Amino acid sequence: MSFVKLENVGKTYGSINVLKDLNLRVDKHEVVCLIGPSGCGKSTMLRCINGLESIQAGSIFVGDLEVSSPIVDINAVRRRVGMVFQHFNLFPHMTAIENVMVAQLRVLGRDKRAARDMAFELLSRVGLSKKIDKYPEALSGGEQQRVAIARTLAMSPQALLLDEITSALDPELVGEVLEIVRELANEGMTMLLATHEMSFAREVATRVCFVAEGGIYEEGPAEKILSNPDRPKTQAFLRRLVESHRL
Ligand SMILES: Nc1ncnc2c1ncn2[C@@H]1O[C@H](COP(=O)(O)OP(=O)(O)OP(=O)(O)O)[C@@H](O)[C@H]1O
Ligand SMILES: [Mg+2]
Repeated sequence: MSFVKLENVGKTYGSINVLKDLNLRVDKHEVVCLIGPSGCGKSTMLRCINGLESIQAGSIFVGDLEVSSPIVDINAVRRRVGMVFQHFNLFPHMTAIENVMVAQLRVLGRDKRAARDMAFELLSRVGLSKKIDKYPEALSGGEQQRVAIARTLAMSPQALLLDEITSALDPELVGEVLEIVRELANEGMTMLLATHEMSFAREVATRVCFVAEGGIYEEGPAEKILSNPDRPKTQAFLRRLVESHRL
């Protein structure tokens, strides 16, 4: 049974038709990578799934919750699917551990001690047990992104939406963040991620979806899509990646 399901989704911004009759399913424990040129709609898709954007046609489900229903409990959706963004947006006036605690206190109503224990466990897991009392400005970009991942995991989500989470990082910091995603994948976390890191997509994805023309233009195993795609726009995209030495 699919955990995330988009059926015939249409999304417009004014007169721009970004998503057109989009269909996508993500099963439990799948790691699905969305790839495609800038502006093709990857972020829009992810934002629609956790209700940051409304849609004009079709339906979106997360488990048995219909995100696209006007009466959905959107906070329930967001507890179920956590999202991590390119720009980490940590609270600058809070330490790392406070950043990981705050939504646990305010959204989940956990008591302070439980929230702190959970935050410490998650920060340790992302390799930051020695930095829990640092403020974001004293952390590297990679460390800040790891705090942001811990913050999302603190909601105990059943799936993660990751939007270009390494794009804002210096190249030498990308690896430490991808390592966390790799571990989550190994533990069976369901993930849908937009990425420009093709080697990473090749390594972790159970399926790669090339996005074009407002929908999933071509999909399949990473090896197939990234080496030998069938359709012209996917082929052209790969050619450009090869020419710019990004594949
Ligand atoms: N809030 C908005 N208002 C109007 N147009 C928008 C808005 N957000 C996105 N768009 C447009 O929708 C299209 C898809 O944008 P989206 O951010 O989903 O692309 P993307 O695939 O994530 O690109 P990138 O790889 O650069 O992140 C683009 O044409 C973009 O200009
Ligand atoms: Mg994007």
